[in-house]
Amino acid sequence: MSLPNKPKKIGILTAGGDCPGLNAAIRGVGKTAIVEYGMKVLGFNAGFLGLINKDYMVLKESQLSGILTLGGTILGSSREKPYKNVMNGEEASGKPEKIKHTYHDLGLDCLVCIGGNGTMKTASLLAQEGMNVIGIPKTIDNDVWGTDITFGFESAVQIATEAIDRLHTTANSHQRVMIIELMGHHAGWLALYSGMAGGGDIILLPEIPFNIHSVCKKIESRYQDKKPYSIVVVAEGIEHPKNQSAASYLAEEIKACTGNETRETVLGYIQRGGSPTPMDRILATRYGAFAAQCIAEECFGTMVAIKKGDLTTVPLQEAGGNQRLVEPDHPLILKARKMGVSFGDD
Ligand code: F6P
Repeated sequence: MSLPNKPKKIGILTAGGDCPGLNAAIRGVGKTAIVEYGMKVLGFNAGFLGLINKDYMVLKESQLSGILTLGGTILGSSREKPYKNVMNGEEASGKPEKIKHTYHDLGLDCLVCIGGNGTMKTASLLAQEGMNVIGIPKTIDNDVWGTDITFGFESAVQIATEAIDRLHTTANSHQRVMIIELMGHHAGWLALYSGMAGGGDIILLPEIPFNIHSVCKKIESRYQDKKPYSIVVVAEGIEHPKNQSAASYLAEEIKACTGNETRETVLGYIQRGGSPTPMDRILATRYGAFAAQCIAEECFGTMVAIKKGDLTTVPLQEAGGNQRLVEPDHPLILKARKMGVSFGDD
């Protein structure tokens, strides 16, 4: 705990895959910490690597202006996992000790870790080592446990939906089956939401095992109903041979069993780039400002979260150990099925 009159000194980092809204969150924490609470703010470069290598910059309020709409992260990010060796049962890497050293050497009162599941896991382990840590959930995958929504997700849904919209017209012109592969290794939130927003006919998620015959049956019945084309939206993490993309596997299989012409699109990193949507800017700002308030109130060892629209906190240990997947009976899936959307399992 810092002395009553001594301003708190905090560190911020962004870790894991980037997403739109990271800069809005950095700005939200940093500005509130400086303007409202008079704290000192350091930004660590490239996620946990910055902490390991003591690579940081002092963030002044003026440096936090003009970044709200910017994609990516001004701090950089990396997939560095300092506890990886320990978790894999290998020889300790010494990285957690280096982080602890940086934390104490710089006299930090709190570390703000902005990231997804992996970051929350690391944040929780650092908290268990005695550091004051607060997590902020981000990811286009929307799969962080303990919160109803992560920032980055809405922006990615918008980008993916625009892509699906564009596929409809070209699919129609050529009477083709279009397969679009979206990100999501374990969680199908992005495919589900973009698939529904973009009017996908078949949506395949990692959480719902599919049957290729059921997919082909759906496509054939659409042609019989005089619907000249089909759109298949697929999350990258569905079960498929690992030597090809999910989209190319489906394109081959669908062509083989229906005889229809197929084309594949793998949207890739476009989903993570560019400016956040207004709602993601607001969400990231709310999370950031609330995290600064949590630091002032010393609610350490927690992740800021949204539940039923309200800001709250959840223990980092709970968030870090879990993943929020799509429930097969999610209300949107039940509605979709009633409208004839196939999830490849009927
Ligand atoms: O974690 C977000 C995510 O976008 C996943 O959906 C995707 O599988 C992964 O990142 C890819 O990340 P990278 O190639 O940057 O490690």
